[in-house]
Amino acid sequence: MRECHREIAKWLEAVGTSPAIDAVGNLRALYPGSDPTTPRLLIGSHLDTVPNAGAFDGVLGVVLAVTLLEALEGRTLPFGIEIVGFSEEEGVRFGVPFIGSRALAGTLDEGVLSRKDQEGVSVREAIEQFGLDSTKIPEASLRGEVLGYLEFHIEQGPVLESLDLPLAAVEAIAGQTRQQFVFAGKTNHAGTTPMNLRQDALAGAAEWIAIVEREARSVPGLVATVGAIEAKPGATNVIAGEVRASLDIRHASDEIRTKSAQTIAEGAQEIAERRGLEVKQATLLNQRAVAMDSFLLEQVDQAIRETRCKPHRMVSGAGHDAMILAQRVPTAMIFLRSPGGISHDPAETVLVEDVARALECGMHLLAQLASTLKSSGRTCLA
Ligand code: HGY
Ligand code: MN
Ligand code: MN
Repeated sequence: MRECHREIAKWLEAVGTSPAIDAVGNLRALYPGSDPTTPRLLIGSHLDTVPNAGAFDGVLGVVLAVTLLEALEGRTLPFGIEIVGFSEEEGVRFGVPFIGSRALAGTLDEGVLSRKDQEGVSVREAIEQFGLDSTKIPEASLRGEVLGYLEFHIEQGPVLESLDLPLAAVEAIAGQTRQQFVFAGKTNHAGTTPMNLRQDALAGAAEWIAIVEREARSVPGLVATVGAIEAKPGATNVIAGEVRASLDIRHASDEIRTKSAQTIAEGAQEIAERRGLEVKQATLLNQRAVAMDSFLLEQVDQAIRETRCKPHRMVSGAGHDAMILAQRVPTAMIFLRSPGGISHDPAETVLVEDVARALECGMHLLAQLASTLKSSGRTCLA
C-alpha cells in the first residue's frame, strides 16, 4: 500500500495537487475548482484487493480519476475534484469490508475498529502500525459541500461482454450478507471410530455447503458462496472436531437475501442436530442494497451517449465503496466491460479502447455537471 500511495501520489503531484493520507490510510487529493468556495465532486475507488487478484479491480477507478485530472490540462471547473483511493474495501484481512469509505461516511464504528485479523491484530492497531493516528479518524469524514461521488469500476461479470457494450451505468448495488459459521463436533481417530459413532464437523459442513448451493440455485438472482473453510486439527487421519466456514449471500432485494440467509441458517441447525454437532454463526456484514442517484444516472447515460456508445443500466452484484458513500452524497458508478467476465483472478483484464471510452465519457460527464451548475447557479446537482 505504501508503494501504491507513492506511485499514485507522484501522478497527483504532477497535476498540481497535494496528496495526503488520511487517518485510515485513504489517499486523498483535491484539485480545486474555479474558486475556493466551490463544492467538490469525489472521484475514486479502492486500492486494496483480494489474494491472487487481477490488476484492475479498484485501482483502475483511481487511475482513471487521476487521468481525468491530467486530461483537464490545468483547466478548472465550477467545482473542485477530490480524488480518493480507499485503503480497504474488500474485507479480506479483517472480515469486514469498506473500512476506508466508512471513514469518509462517518460510519466507522468501534465494532469495526476492534475487529481482529488472523494474527489477533485489530483494525485500530493496524492503523497505528501503518504509522497513522487512529484518534484522527473523525477528521477523515466528509466535510464541506460535496456534489457527489463518482466511481469507475470494472463490471467483474459477463453482462457487458455478452451485450458487446463497453460501458454501463450502475443503477443499484446488490445487498450482501457476510457470515462465519462454526461447526463443532468431536475430534477422533479416523481408523478406529465407526461411522455411526462420529460427530464429524467437516462432513456436517460439507452437507451444509450443498444446501447453500441448492438454495442459491433455487432463488432467481440469488448468489451464495462458501469461499473459505478451515478444518481443525486438519490432519488426514483425524476426524475434524471444528470447522470454520465463510458465507457470502447477495441479492438485489434485501427481503429475498434475508429470507435465504434464514433458510441457510436453519439448514445448518438441522444438520447439526442430526449429526450431534453444535453450530454457531456470526454476522460480519449485513449491507442493504443501494440505489444510485437518479440525476447522476441520467447524466451518466447522456455522457455514454456523447461517447458514441449505447447507454445501458445494470445492477452490480459486486459490492463497492459507492454503496457506503451513497449514504452521504449523490453517487454514481460507471462500469467498464470485463473480457471473459473474470475478476478476483489474475485473468481479470480490460480493453484499452474501453478505458479510452471511459475517460472520454468521464470528460463529457464533467462538462455536463459543470454546465448544470453554471446554468442553475446552484451549488448542488440534484
Ligand atoms: O466482494 C465484492 O463484492 C467486492 O469485490 N468488494
Ligand atoms: Mn473486489
Ligand atoms: Mn472492487
